[in-house]
Amino acid sequence: MTPRLRPMRLADLDAVLALEEELFAPDTWTRAMYRDELARTDTRHYLVADDEGTVVGYAGLIAYDDEAHVATIGVATARQGEGIGARLLDALLTEADRRSPVVLLEVRADNELAQGLYRRRGFAEIGRRRGYYQPSNTDAVVMKREKP
Ligand SMILES: CC(C)(COP(=O)(O)OP(=O)(O)OC[C@H]1O[C@@H](n2cnc3c(N)ncnc32)[C@H](O)[C@@H]1OP(=O)(O)O)[C@@H](O)C(=O)NCCC(=O)NCCS
Repeated sequence: MTPRLRPMRLADLDAVLALEEELFAPDTWTRAMYRDELARTDTRHYLVADDEGTVVGYAGLIAYDDEAHVATIGVATARQGEGIGARLLDALLTEADRRSPVVLLEVRADNELAQGLYRRRGFAEIGRRRGYYQPSNTDAVVMKREKP
């Protein structure tokens, strides 16, 4: 089935944290971080891809008046390559364009697939941050997209 995109809820956090471990270990966000994010409804926009009750992907946007930020995006390993990540990103960008003139994100310097996905949606590299991801100490590429 094609998963449905819907707002992330507290009840999704067990599934989200399991995906977080699968996709981002050891640089995982904690339950407390996600609870804080979900409480900040004015500036946050978190989505899950829900396939008949199973969370198979998620993504989050932080949006202020002057700038938005793609906070996270992930798709279950077994479901990657089906277009779910692209749909999640497009939904975040639609929301970002409603709220902010600019979107920024960080992506692991060794993650070519994600960088390609972002470039095809108008993001360009503007810098690097050494050791941004902790505790793995992986460098980040910073990318920026202006509202079209
Ligand atoms: C990055 C990620 C979110 C992409 O999600 P996905 O559902 O697998 O991606 P999609 O199927 O939508 O494909 C995204 C793009 O990559 C391309 N792509 C997918 N698999 C590919 C592969 N094996 N080789 C080359 N290109 C590929 C698709 O054609 C698509 O292109 P488009 O930009 O023209 O639409 C997902 O791979 C993931 O969760 N990775 C681990 C966590 C991660 O790295 N997150 C990003 C952190 S910044």
